[in-house]
Amino acid sequence: MSNNLLKGKKGIISGALDQNSIAWKIAERACEQGAAFTLTNAPIAMRMGELNKLGEKVNAEIIPADATSMKDLETLFNKSMEVLGGKVDFLLHSIGMSPNVRKGRAYNDLNYDWFQKTLDVSALSFHKMMQTAEKLDAINDGGSVLGLSYIAAQRTFPDYADMAQAKALLESIARSYGYRLGVNKKIRVNTISQSPTMTTAGSGVPGFEVFFDYADKMSPLGNADAESCADYCIVMFSDLTRMVTMQNLMHDGGFSTSGITETMVKELANK
Ligand SMILES: NC(=O)c1ccc[n+]([C@@H]2O[C@H](COP(=O)([O-])OP(=O)(O)OC[C@H]3O[C@@H](n4cnc5c(N)ncnc54)[C@H](O)[C@@H]3O)[C@@H](O)[C@H]2O)c1
Repeated sequence: MSNNLLKGKKGIISGALDQNSIAWKIAERACEQGAAFTLTNAPIAMRMGELNKLGEKVNAEIIPADATSMKDLETLFNKSMEVLGGKVDFLLHSIGMSPNVRKGRAYNDLNYDWFQKTLDVSALSFHKMMQTAEKLDAINDGGSVLGLSYIAAQRTFPDYADMAQAKALLESIARSYGYRLGVNKKIRVNTISQSPTMTTAGSGVPGFEVFFDYADKMSPLGNADAESCADYCIVMFSDLTRMVTMQNLMHDGGFSTSGITETMVKELANK
């Protein structure tokens, strides 16, 4: 169903790897809601070839960019403005990767080169995107920038390792850059803290299925899926939320404010 919430708006969507990616659903919804946008991902992710299918479906040009490379980001913004015929109104950062998580390293056995890679790819890239955009004056006044986060920024989830620090940094960058872009250009910057979701990045976390199940049972509405996250992102990109900025917005079915649920009580009582 389309309400044309993004009619006339232009944007950049990063992080769609395959059909399960949260960014994939966001791109589909943004297209349904009338937006024109470019898609981007790391050059290495292009090898899978899946992104081309999405590009065709949503009529979007694909611009490869490693989000840690200032040169690639400059090309991304310049080319996007060329293709779209002007500055963008929305920007999605949907990027996360930790070599330590991927290799199952325990928190007392982290590889520090990998730790820095985690921070660079999953958090600094958010700053790099906004700094590049600001220098190139690539975002329209009143625009909206979003990053995707996880509650491990505030609470401990043992197997999330250094990604917890990356998410805390990501959310902090949203506040600091949100202040700057808000004052200068009325641009909003927020993070959405999403429920565990079955994607490549998500299921790469050891024990993911267990904490997916746990979060589902601990959330009055159940886990929020990628489609509902996409809906929320559309509202945040639209003009309906033009006074919301510098927030970490919980999109988790109520998980973050639930002490315990009856489902969990029953489950533990039956053990
Ligand atoms: N899946 C979950 O449970 C969950 C929960 C909360 C938040 N998130 C966050 O949502 C975002 C999207 O993840 P997802 O779950 O859709 O998984 P995904 O694996 O589909 O997406 C992650 C994306 O990051 C991209 N990426 C990695 N390194 C990059 C680089 N150097 N440059 C550019 N792109 C790069 C990957 O190619 C991929 O497209 C991430 O920030 C993730 O941490 C996911």
